[in-house]
Amino acid sequence: MPLIEFDRIPYRVGEFFRAITARPNPKVAEIASGYLSPPLLELFEKMSPYDQAHCVAVMQHLLEMGETDPDLLAAALLHDVGKSKIKLSVWYRVAAVLLKKKLRFFACKTPGKPICYSVYVQVEHPRIGAEMAKEAGCSERCARLILYHQAQDPPLDPEERRMVAALQAADKEL
Ligand SMILES: [Fe+2]
Ligand SMILES: [Fe+2]
Repeated sequence: MPLIEFDRIPYRVGEFFRAITARPNPKVAEIASGYLSPPLLELFEKMSPYDQAHCVAVMQHLLEMGETDPDLLAAALLHDVGKSKIKLSVWYRVAAVLLKKKLRFFACKTPGKPICYSVYVQVEHPRIGAEMAKEAGCSERCARLILYHQAQDPPLDPEERRMVAALQAADKEL
């Protein structure tokens, strides 16, 4: 894979502008409240306005695809909650997405080193998010879907693999 995925740049430019213009939207939380318990909703609300809107869009896309499993819908709403561990600047997010796995070289688990800790959170957000959601009371299945939402070959049963694939397809599109 090249260092930067040039074919994704137009999409990322759009993402950048959506991210810097995103404002808290009470409607987004209202939609999420229909699918999350109060502690999970509290977690959802820790995400940035941009991530909240993105997660609701992913969930709505899954609904349009005919998905109705409550664990999958909750996982869609919380799949990026690990990113709320740190306030990532928009510039950083763009660099992180463009550079993808190459950023791993800069990751460190030390909150005192904000730049490399940001990289750590970005790289590890599926695992961090799954732990956060589990602590807030989500189901084991929901936690697994969050954990593997970016994995290429998740060690799951066929039904959960199908759900992860659906989540990944929606996530990639929105
Ligand atoms: Fe993610
Ligand atoms: Fe996402």
